Formats: sequence, structure tokens, C-alpha cells
Amino acid sequence: MAETQAPEVLVFGSAIIDFICYTPRLPKPGETLHGHRFQTGYGGKGANQCVAAARQGSRTALVAKLGADTFGGDYLRQLIEEKVNVEHVQQLEGQTTGVAQIAVSDGGENNIIIVVGANSQLSSRDVTLAEVLFREAKVLVCQLETPVEATLTALKSFRGVSILNAAPAMENTPRELLRLASIFCVNESEAGLMTQMASIETVEEARTAVGQLIEMGANTVIITLGKLGAVFGSSDSKDVFHHVKAPHVPPEKVVDTTGAGDAFIGALAHNIARYPQNKLEAHIAAACAVASQSVQLPGTQASFPRA
Ligand code: RIB
Repeated sequence: MAETQAPEVLVFGSAIIDFICYTPRLPKPGETLHGHRFQTGYGGKGANQCVAAARQGSRTALVAKLGADTFGGDYLRQLIEEKVNVEHVQQLEGQTTGVAQIAVSDGGENNIIIVVGANSQLSSRDVTLAEVLFREAKVLVCQLETPVEATLTALKSFRGVSILNAAPAMENTPRELLRLASIFCVNESEAGLMTQMASIETVEEARTAVGQLIEMGANTVIITLGKLGAVFGSSDSKDVFHHVKAPHVPPEKVVDTTGAGDAFIGALAHNIARYPQNKLEAHIAAACAVASQSVQLPGTQASFPRA
């Protein structure tokens, strides 16, 4: 029997089924709107990031929990189809697969509610069980849709480059999470919540937020800014911040931004694992290019490009 090759990118995190309603605009509280299209999709930030890296060409492995239901079975088959190593993706009896209710406006904006179901069972024991993957992978990717204790264990156990996508944002993110990850990555609204800055809309404001997150203990911080690209900085050279521009996408071509952040993280992990000699700036530019392709197609994983 052929031996499984070591993964380049290991993702420890969530897998969720997305229920997406496309609507002229996002509803106001208490309002019922007529949408014009409905689509189900494979989502969850963890699995999205893993599939994004796999589509760029990385050997990937996912450690995640699904329910022992139809959604879970379908999802497992889909991950195999995407060539993800699913040795440590488990379907749990008595648990339902996580679901997300997503509204996407004609302008491409979204809002998302998640009910994580089986994802809540991902634990520190799963890090131990997947010890070989943790030892062999080059890059580890985690998010915050699964229990934080398990994420802390995962980050502590890993010796390569770890990326924490601190999403969805927590107001009181444990400082240990910031300290443990080699790269701490958030979008503008998540950075706003963590730093208590009223809004982060400009490159200048993002620079201030990067500085604050470094002060809070992070090593390298990336803040993604949608069409403005990303700003990053690192604790080694405080006060030096870099701005990487995103390729221009005309507004009429932006159809769905859901999962664009995950496309960015997956592509970032792939580039770091595959081209370790390159600078972070080059990795971020490649990740921005992948994210800007994903906003031009509907769906989450359905919109991720193949290299
Ligand atoms: O980042 C987009 C993802 O967030 C969706 O796929 C949804 O499942 C939620 O996890």
C-alpha cells in the first residue's frame, strides 16, 4: 500500500454546511425580504481554508468533526474529492453537522449565523490523535469556530509556521492565542473588535491596529482590508508596517465576498509551505490575488480558484 505523504498544510478547525440566500439587500431587523436564489454549499472556515490550499496545489490534511448525518457523509465525500487527507475528520453519532445561514446582497456583502453542532466536540485529544500530522506538516492553520482550549493545544504542539485566523472575532481573545501563533490574521471588523477601535477603514487605521495587536502579544499580524488588500507588521521590526495592494476588481464583478477571507488564508498557507524562501509580502500578494478571484463567483468553496 502506498504511504500517505506528509501534509504541507494542516488545518485544525471547522466544517459547516452553508445555506446561502441571495437577496437584493441585507434584511433589517424584523424584516422579511424576497430573495432571488438559494444555494447550499460546503463551508466552515477551517474546511474552506483547507480546500483553498488544496486547490492551489498543497498536500493538505484536515482535523475536524462532522455529524453522523447526511450532511456529514456528503461533506466527507466532498473533502476526499478535493484530495484532502481526511484520516482525522470524524463523523460523530448523536451530533449534527454544523450549519451556517448566510444572506448575500446584490452588492456582494453578507451576514452569517453559525450553529456549530459537531464542531463543538473538537478537543485537545484530537491534537494528540493527529500527532503525526502535527509533527510532519509545514504550516498549521486554526480559526475560532471550534473550542478555544483545543486551538491553544494545537498551537502549542506545533513547531512549524502557525497561522491563526481569529474569526469569528472574540471581544476578549485570550492573549495566549496571539502569542502562540506565528501569524495572527484578522479582517478589518475583527481587528476593530479586538482593539476597540471604532472603525478600521483605511490603511492608516489598519497600521494603528496592527501596532496594537503586536503590543497585545502577537508576533506577526496581517489585517485584510478587502479591496484595499492587506497591511502587515511584525514584533521584530516594530513601527515598520507594509501595505500590499489587492488586484483591482470592478464593483460590478463582485458577486459574493463570502469565504474570500478563507481563500486568502488557504492561499497564504500554501505559499508559505511551498515557497519558504519568499518574503511574507510576496505570500500576501499571492493570497490577495486568490481572494480577489473568489469574490467574482458565487458561493464559498465553489468560488475558490484552482492554480
Ligand atoms: O468564512 C465563511 C464561512 O464562515 C462560511 O463558509 C460559513 O460556514 C462560516 O463558517
